[in-house]
Amino acid sequence: MDGKSDTKRYDTVLVEQGDEEGIKKAAEALKNGEVIGMPTETVYGLGADAKNPDAVKKIYVAKGRPSDNPLIVHVANKDMITPLVKEITPVAKVLIDIFMPGPITVIMKKSDEIPSIVSAGLDTVGIRFPIHPVAQKLIETSGVPVAAPSANLSGSPSPTKASHVVKDMSGRVPYIVDGGECQVGLESTVVDATGAWPQILRPGKITIDQMEEALKNAGIEKPLVTPEYEAKPGEAPRSPGMKYRHYAPSCDVHIVGDGSKDDFENYFKYYKQIIMQAIMDEKTPIGLYVGEELAERLKILFANKEEEIEYYIYGDTENVEDASHGLFDGLRTLDEKDVKLIVAPAFPEEGLGIAYMNRLKKAASQAEEVTIRANHRRLMFVCSGNTCRSPLAEAIFRSIFRSTGPHYLIDDPSTEGKVIVSSAGTFAKGDEPYTVYSVRAAKYEYDEDISNGYSKLAIKERLINQDLILTMTGDGSRYLRTRFPDLSDRIFSFQEILDDLAIPNVDGEVRDPYGYDYLVYMETAKQLDKIIRALLPEILKMWGMT
Ligand code: TXA
Ligand code: MG
Repeated sequence: MDGKSDTKRYDTVLVEQGDEEGIKKAAEALKNGEVIGMPTETVYGLGADAKNPDAVKKIYVAKGRPSDNPLIVHVANKDMITPLVKEITPVAKVLIDIFMPGPITVIMKKSDEIPSIVSAGLDTVGIRFPIHPVAQKLIETSGVPVAAPSANLSGSPSPTKASHVVKDMSGRVPYIVDGGECQVGLESTVVDATGAWPQILRPGKITIDQMEEALKNAGIEKPLVTPEYEAKPGEAPRSPGMKYRHYAPSCDVHIVGDGSKDDFENYFKYYKQIIMQAIMDEKTPIGLYVGEELAERLKILFANKEEEIEYYIYGDTENVEDASHGLFDGLRTLDEKDVKLIVAPAFPEEGLGIAYMNRLKKAASQAEEVTIRANHRRLMFVCSGNTCRSPLAEAIFRSIFRSTGPHYLIDDPSTEGKVIVSSAGTFAKGDEPYTVYSVRAAKYEYDEDISNGYSKLAIKERLINQDLILTMTGDGSRYLRTRFPDLSDRIFSFQEILDDLAIPNVDGEVRDPYGYDYLVYMETAKQLDKIIRALLPEILKMWGMT
């Protein structure tokens, strides 16, 4: 198929803000099987009648992407949801009640009304009820549920302004409706609500903490074992969008800052260093995605280097909402200015910061060179239950790490933060106390108190922020890599790293002591001690901390 002549065949009409007549015409086109560019509060979408397979096909033609990624179906009121799904689980009901309309997509079992071209052959469908009034108006007026992916060409960032859609889709669709700048600026949270507990497939503005609270308020308890997490190795990953190339600026990206809250001075320091380096290396112009106060200070400092620096100011330096809102526009804008390097700030990976860092790292991940100049590094130990081996490994690491200074653990309040260490289990039940013998070994051998610790499941949200994830066994690392293929580059078993580094005479397969007596736990502790002492200098070297 000749892509160009086949797709650039519309005289695209841009419907301006407040043009009610134009909105009506666009809705009419939607109803008649055409594809339109439409605003939502997250990002702009390319909408088509979800029940009309021919209309949905046109989305893929316009977008230039294959049709094997499921599409989100957008509705304009909650009554529209019922016929589209087979089942609304108690979890889904709460999420719909509390968070809709809003920036969330809830995945449920689909009914026969959803054609398979929308669900990409899955038996589920993601439903989203946007809060943007123009989106609601378009859906309501057309009278059809609207299947819509983000309105970017494959390989561009999601559009957050009508002008972005015009740039990518002009000639490819009959209408693009301007609804102003998208308020959130990052795509919706995608959450699988088919099971007894929500599972986040794509982080967004609505966070798992907010969901847990809503569920708790509704009297729904977290199940001890959440069966949907117990996918067998080899099972297809459910995380959305992983197979697809993500947007990457055509230049290098540096993510800077230490991701902690009160580090304006740190940001300043890093930006300054990178700018000076770029000027020295003649790697300019350099593009700064930057907060207002920081930009002001840098502009003064680099007053005589104006032509070498492009600023994109997103708002308040330390405001993650501002940074999220502007991110895609900032990356597009700086990229269009042909900068050689983009510098963007890290934010703490909590709340909206999880989604922001997720998109920023994705954008950076295909750049030729990515430097995350963070003070903080995150290390996680993973075993199966997270009650014996991994908590013990964590305690031993803390103890050894402390005594090797001058590095610091972030949760040690007396010091500057450097490393965040944690643990989790691939099959952890969650909220189970650590085993008595692990607590005892940590206490008596290492003077580390882990008696208040509880097991945590190794879910994607916990893993996604980690710089390094170390498993006790080869089975463990293989399992995690199968389950979270996009995180593979940071998942290793002890033995794999030891082999990589050609460190001899250390047995890196740490077997489960669960059910055995204290002597076996002591042996486990000794083995972990040996492994961690062998690996620690290498890890620090890798992180540039030596
Ligand atoms: O904010 C948003 O969600 C925007 C606006 C336009 O609503 N839409 C959007 O659509 O981001 P899209 O197609 O760019 O991304 C939707 C993601 C995909 O990664 C897809 O794999 C996932 O959601 N998804 C959709 N339906 C799914 C399903 N049934 N199961 C698993 N993942 C699903
Ligand atoms: Mg998209």
